[in-house]
Amino acid sequence: MKERVKIDPELFIGDGTERLCYLHPGNRAWCIKIPRSSSHTKQHRHDLKIYNKLAKRENGFRHIAAFRGTVITERGEGLLFETVRNGDGSVAKSLLHYLYNAPDRIDEEMISALRELENFIKKERIILKDPSPSNLLYQQNGSGGRFVIIDGIDLPAVPLFADFKISKQWEKVLRRLYRESGDNPAVRKLLAASWPNLFSQEAQ
Ligand SMILES: Nc1ncnc2c1ncn2[C@@H]1O[C@H](COP(=O)(O)OP(=O)(O)O)[C@@H](O)[C@H]1O
Ligand SMILES: [Mg+2]
Repeated sequence: MKERVKIDPELFIGDGTERLCYLHPGNRAWCIKIPRSSSHTKQHRHDLKIYNKLAKRENGFRHIAAFRGTVITERGEGLLFETVRNGDGSVAKSLLHYLYNAPDRIDEEMISALRELENFIKKERIILKDPSPSNLLYQQNGSGGRFVIIDGIDLPAVPLFADFKISKQWEKVLRRLYRESGDNPAVRKLLAASWPNLFSQEAQ
């Protein structure tokens, strides 16, 4: 039997409501997601299906953390992903992190990276099932940055209403950003200027 990968608490990089994420002890370019408990395996099974479909597309992972398969750990089966890192090697932070901890970093450049992400999900027809800015990591490099989705995606089962659903879920991300940037008029202004149809009053 293959050896089970050890989960090292020191390699913990983040958690959500369902899963815990650790760097792979043998290769830190990868991270392992494991369900918090046996009652949280639904998401895990869903993801496995979606990521295997995306892997067949040419550009499936252009803005989604690349999926590397499954791994057996001492805490059950885990999903292996590329660790999203900045140019300086640090692990990338989420859009929500920037909103709360460094709102000044949300500038024109980051907004244009958001637009690029919007184009990607519309072209590849990705539904942001969990439309939280915590699931979008901003990967910085010297010349700018890009957004990478790490969680909460779905693919339309049937084409009917798919585009509508994709847009609706994307708008939820923007609306949440707008709502949570209450203390920051500069961020609100940028959002309103980029998506005037969504925030029409504010764009006046
Ligand atoms: N590919 C990744 N690269 C870097 N950090 C990640 C990656 N995937 C997840 N994380 C970190 O782990 C946290 C939890 O992962 P996530 O998949 O969002 O869990 P959940 O399904 O419980 O919401 C994220 O908020 C982020 O901090
Ligand atoms: Mg999450």
